[in-house]
Amino acid sequence: MRHFLTLRDFTKGEILEIIDLARKIKEESLRREFIPYLNKQTLAMIFEKSSTRTRVSFEVGIYQLGGIGLFLSKNDLQLGRGEPMKDTARVISRMCDLVMIRTYDQKSLEEFANYSLVPVINGLTDTYHPVQLMADYLTMIEYNKANNPTVAYIGDGNNMANSWLMLASKLGFTLKIATPKGYEPDPQVVKDALNFAKESGAKIEFFNDPSQAIKDADVVTTDTWISMGQEAEKEKRIKDFRGFEINSKLMQLAKKDAIFLHCLPAYRGYEVSEEVFETHSKEIFDEAENRLHAQKGIMVWLDRKRSE
Ligand code: CP
Ligand code: NVA
Repeated sequence: MRHFLTLRDFTKGEILEIIDLARKIKEESLRREFIPYLNKQTLAMIFEKSSTRTRVSFEVGIYQLGGIGLFLSKNDLQLGRGEPMKDTARVISRMCDLVMIRTYDQKSLEEFANYSLVPVINGLTDTYHPVQLMADYLTMIEYNKANNPTVAYIGDGNNMANSWLMLASKLGFTLKIATPKGYEPDPQVVKDALNFAKESGAKIEFFNDPSQAIKDADVVTTDTWISMGQEAEKEKRIKDFRGFEINSKLMQLAKKDAIFLHCLPAYRGYEVSEEVFETHSKEIFDEAENRLHAQKGIMVWLDRKRSE
């Protein structure tokens, strides 16, 4: 049985296999063919943090695959009153067929997975957001940006930056990350990514100047400067990230036909200007829709691996 906790655990071949499956299921569903790949299966969706896209895409996704989603917010679960993760895992995984969790610490997610009898999917932790990256890569393919691209990630070295490091280093493309000093991605993730890059041929570079990272990029991306759980640091972060807004002037340094991706929610006037956001809204909302298709691929793939 496999879990989907981080792209670190996946080979290039497996990532591409899931993407192919997602594309096939997307084509079927665009023809309104909803094949019950997960007939009568139940997906438990545990949320310790807020969500729009993750909740809707998983709930709609499992329904379209012939199953049902259970929305479980921390406040309504005994988890919120101190019941251990490992006990929650042992109960839920006896009744449900798949579990998705959005939580803070990657270690809590791993603990859940260790005690779970069914596949567990990471719906975002402080360290990684791997389902988002599958949707992002699917979008890159659809915009013909998956053939040896240069991706520029400008902003906070957070769960999205860490996840881009995993995707690039596994698939072997160029990733240029620009963060303010002190906001670099997790050093362990960087170390792992540089090791994977040796094998895949990925080129990974770090900058503190956004204009250097964005130069000639095919794909430009960013994320909020204030992730969930960091609200108390808002004022300091806004000061420290000055000069990191992706605006038209900065975007002009990327390739002429570069696409702009954002996992959303977006904060205009901070990590991205209103103008750049609206100019690239087609890509951004295709990316958001692709959460649905990519995650259907992930769920069906995990179901197929159940007996291995
Ligand atoms: N991108 C993303 O995961 O969005 P939500 O927080 O709305 O789920
Ligand atoms: N880095 C953001 C991503 C939200 C989808 C957060 O963790 O809040």
